[in-house]
Amino acid sequence: MKNLIDIKDLSIQEIEELIKVAQDIIKNKKKYSKKCNGKKLATLFFEPSTRTRLSFEAAMMELGGNVLGFSSASSSSTSKGESVSDTIRTVGCYADIIAMRHPKEGAPLVASIKSTVPIINAGDGGHNHPTQTLTDLLTIKCEKNRLDNLTIGLCGDLKFGRTVHSLITAMTKYKNIKFVLISPEELKVPEYIKKEVLEKNNIIWCETTDLEEYMQDLDILYMTRVQRERFNDEKEYLKLKDCYILTKNKLKKAKEDLCIMHPLPRVNEISKQVDDDKRACYFKQVEYGKYIRMALIMKLLNEQNDNNIDELKREKEEKIFDSIKCQNPRCITSENDDLEPIFILTDKEKQIYRCKYCETILKK
Ligand code: CP
Repeated sequence: MKNLIDIKDLSIQEIEELIKVAQDIIKNKKKYSKKCNGKKLATLFFEPSTRTRLSFEAAMMELGGNVLGFSSASSSSTSKGESVSDTIRTVGCYADIIAMRHPKEGAPLVASIKSTVPIINAGDGGHNHPTQTLTDLLTIKCEKNRLDNLTIGLCGDLKFGRTVHSLITAMTKYKNIKFVLISPEELKVPEYIKKEVLEKNNIIWCETTDLEEYMQDLDILYMTRVQRERFNDEKEYLKLKDCYILTKNKLKKAKEDLCIMHPLPRVNEISKQVDDDKRACYFKQVEYGKYIRMALIMKLLNEQNDNNIDELKREKEEKIFDSIKCQNPRCITSENDDLEPIFILTDKEKQIYRCKYCETILKK
């Protein structure tokens, strides 16, 4: 594997290996303190971040490497009109590996096609956030001591929450996983996740608008923030922003060993009084994020000369339709004039094509 763009790029064996290495790092930090001596990580954040950017930087420092980068598009030459491709070609001259976050969906994939060094997707619009998913998997493994036989409640903005989409995709690889999807009508999990991930993998799942309805059944409760930055209408955001607030009272029926997670940042979704509850794992989750990113940086630096089999696999079904563009306004193809729209056949029977970059269904 040369890049990490989508959690689907990793096999279950690779995920387990990363988790194993991260758990070893937790136990033997010194053993890893020189693994990346002389190497440089660039963090290119075109969108705000606290945890992802700083944990990548801390991870590289703890491996003995160095970091460079920027924390906003306005402090880079993007503000002068530079394209993602040109930025990536430039940064590849200075760094050995790049972690990037971008508001346009598919931007890290574009970067990976142009880059001479490994690219890690640190979040692209409302699309994917694979290293948060690795963080979540390590958290679940360390806190529950298993990744199978779990009932997982996902609560909040399940429409725009990229961490939720990646986590559902990853957890379907494990046995006996059930999902309770808790959201207002307006913020339900997208249809394509239900059809192509949950139904395709015969996963048991249900939807509810009530946070407490299945509380007693949950092993994991994964709270999420309503994603203000993804709304076109501020009024709609204000209507939905406090739709769920987890309080001690709402946890009354919850299991003693429930694991409460949140990718953070938190706005109002979890009352501060819950922070003292032994079941609150969201700050431990932050720390796990650093260790799994250490494992990932080492893996990508070691494997950067391998063929990117996933990319070759994807290219098999590619097609360009003359004059048809992706209809998703958040897709990277809407920003970059040189980028040819490319669609991939994801369902032969129904002839469903998806944008190669943001995975939106093509409406012909
Ligand atoms: N979880 C997460 O992505 O946090 P940041 O936005 O602070 O990086």
